[in-house]
Amino acid sequence: MEIKSLQKLFYQLYGREDPYPVEFYFAPGRICLIGEHIDYNGGWVMPAAISRGIYAGFRKEDNQIMWMRSGMDERDIVCSLAAEITYDESRGWGNYPLGVLSELQKKKIDLTGAELMFNSDLPIGAGLSSSACVEVLTAYMFAEQAGTPLDRTEIALIAQKAENNFIGVKCGIMDQFAVAHGKANNAILLNCDTLEHAYVPLKLGDYRLVVLNTNKQRQLSESKYHVRLAECQTALALLQSKTGILRLVQADPRDIDKCINDPVLRKRAHHVSSEQRRVQEAAAALRRGDIEAFGAILFASHRSLKEDYEVSGHELDTMVTGAQENPNCIGAKMSGAGFGGCAFALVKKDAIESFIVYIEQYYHRHTGRKGSAFMVDVVDGVHKLI
Ligand code: GLA
Repeated sequence: MEIKSLQKLFYQLYGREDPYPVEFYFAPGRICLIGEHIDYNGGWVMPAAISRGIYAGFRKEDNQIMWMRSGMDERDIVCSLAAEITYDESRGWGNYPLGVLSELQKKKIDLTGAELMFNSDLPIGAGLSSSACVEVLTAYMFAEQAGTPLDRTEIALIAQKAENNFIGVKCGIMDQFAVAHGKANNAILLNCDTLEHAYVPLKLGDYRLVVLNTNKQRQLSESKYHVRLAECQTALALLQSKTGILRLVQADPRDIDKCINDPVLRKRAHHVSSEQRRVQEAAAALRRGDIEAFGAILFASHRSLKEDYEVSGHELDTMVTGAQENPNCIGAKMSGAGFGGCAFALVKKDAIESFIVYIEQYYHRHTGRKGSAFMVDVVDGVHKLI
């Protein structure tokens, strides 16, 4: 998105008259390359920040009132930063930034009043972490404006707390961490237990990443997400009663078969254990520049998410199968929590345009729905634009 069009939108929403300049910020969305449903099981994940995201315009005010408007929603949200901030259903998307401000209040960060505008070229609620994006963006901007810039890991943790406590989704740390710590042309190899992380160069060679949006809302995804979380906790408890493991990602496949009788819980544990192995294999493949092997691991991950973890669905499966049937694609999987939202594919760069036409038609033919596909680059985490 061009700064000029952001400025134009800001002035349309708030007018020009004001002593303070408008400052602009950007936070990227993310895809989870590999390591799906691993973060809350305390293992290694590998996300990457993408070139679509959420933009914000920030104009400081000499008071403690915050106005929020968005290019995507008619709502006009006003809030006093001097009082305790609480969840309010009628504020819709506004609860994401408000949740972060409430966490910043607890940290005694000096919050300044502002006129705030959000705009996005990231599909919202589509599994590309639009919520983590707006949360990290809010924490970053307000901390910077308060003159107390926070460490990027601290920002990610504040954003996760807002999601856990204010919004009520018990997500792991992967999304917020990726949005905060993204690095251009690199994947982030993150240990969700210790937050130790390293960058793995994403040398895609002749291939590029294409996001495949099912345009299917992730219905009930939050409640199903919580069901998976509980299943993993039960599976871990069963394994712990007979083995010395601390985290489900440490489970040995033979122990899973021995210790867990329930077929559903056994499948969940197998996904976690095999996905963890795939993260290491994927990082090794990228490090040796074997993009084909990396692609094959993506297909294997999708299969496990579909069959063992059961978080895919007809729409996501159709996108991935369609991609797999195309000779210019060497890997694809769903990304994020699942139950709708987006998948992504690794596609030969010379064939991107024809691939996009192909996959949109394929998806429509098999689901009757209108999906969309677009190429993304891998970019830096949250930052100020001007
Ligand atoms: C959502 C959550 C993340 C992670 C993924 C699944 O995106 O917010 O914490 O659990 O699902 O990998």
